[in-house]
Amino acid sequence: MSVNSRLPGFYKLSPGDRLRNASHAAGLDAADLSPLVPADAELLVLADRMIENVVGTLSIPVGIAANFTINDRDYLIPMATEEPSVVAAASNMASVARHHGGFRTSSDLPIMVSQIQVVGVADPRGARMRLYEAEAELLALANEQDPLLVKLGGGARSIEVRIVEASEAVYVVLHLHVDVRDAMGANAVNTMAEALAPRVAVIAGGRVRLRILTNKADRRLARVRAVFDRDALGGADVVTGIVDAYRFAAADPYRAATHNKGIMNGITAVVLATGNDTRAVEAGAHCHAASSGRYTSLSHYEVNADGHLVGTLEVPMAVGLVGGATKTHPAARAAVRLLGVQSAQELAQVVAAVGLSQNVGALRALAAEGIQKGHMSLHARNVAAAAGAKGDEIEMVVERLKAGGYVRLDKAEVILAELRAGAS
Ligand code: MEV
Repeated sequence: MSVNSRLPGFYKLSPGDRLRNASHAAGLDAADLSPLVPADAELLVLADRMIENVVGTLSIPVGIAANFTINDRDYLIPMATEEPSVVAAASNMASVARHHGGFRTSSDLPIMVSQIQVVGVADPRGARMRLYEAEAELLALANEQDPLLVKLGGGARSIEVRIVEASEAVYVVLHLHVDVRDAMGANAVNTMAEALAPRVAVIAGGRVRLRILTNKADRRLARVRAVFDRDALGGADVVTGIVDAYRFAAADPYRAATHNKGIMNGITAVVLATGNDTRAVEAGAHCHAASSGRYTSLSHYEVNADGHLVGTLEVPMAVGLVGGATKTHPAARAAVRLLGVQSAQELAQVVAAVGLSQNVGALRALAAEGIQKGHMSLHARNVAAAAGAKGDEIEMVVERLKAGGYVRLDKAEVILAELRAGAS
């Protein structure tokens, strides 16, 4: 049966009715889609308020990364991820960093930037100067939009005016820098940009097109460093292997993409667990990795005078504690309580520390036994379950899969069939 994607009035239905309509349109029974319906009916009500056309929710495992000491304080860090080994690797490397005092972090003020694009300006350089001359007026106008933010100590701080030469046009682009305090800040800066636009158009002598934040949040960097103990890592050769892996990523964008993906395994998991915008943080990180004009490693590694590995990471971190799913989703609220962070800056620093720990974990495994050993033994449980193993069968299938050296669905199916034949 072919699917009809025209669903008139779908958005007006309740989640339950939408699910029935969608299953009918897809030629399925409503029961086929029931795994999308959460056990807790309140979650469905919440989800229906968060996005459109809701039929259900998807739950992702949340694990707690252990062993983290950051600036002399211990943290229990919630991580939401579907990938095996991620939480274990972050926790293991945090314990290796503990030998030398754990992670040290810092961060910029929580400055988010919005862009206002002006087109059709006859004298872009003159316009640039006129906009700078009007900075005080523009900042005051921006701050009128958000008295609460100003009361909390935030608000518009400065402007930057750029001339962007596109292929067939020149744009005057005004950047508004806003201290968004404990918010992620997208709403605050977008509202301000829209409010400033008419005045900017008049001053520049052109027409405003886009008014939107930039996800290149490079005025909101989080920084982390840690010393990873040589012996706890596995010895001098493993340290050299990690440095070689880093140099490879620094030199080659193909490797850098994977290296940075490993960092983001940690970062995204904490960003998601705390209800923050994973896509914003991902976009900012990868853009930052290319800020020299060539995509490269986000992290850096050196060996100190005592032969231990020194890891550093600097990454834009647009995360908040107020607003969005962080405030409305009960699981995100619980995750923030567990973390016990008091400000968006503190959260940003914790996230960066997890990114660094994750990265060292991946590089250590790659430089030593290879990534598949640890990955596959955790993965084996999923494969056994996917093959249909239940209860005690799972561990038995896992053991035989590992002993055979192949963690594959077809092998698991054969092993399970043999087990069941032997048992009957
Ligand atoms: C897998 O999710 C992440 C790694 O590929 C990262 C890396 O290669 O550095 C293991």
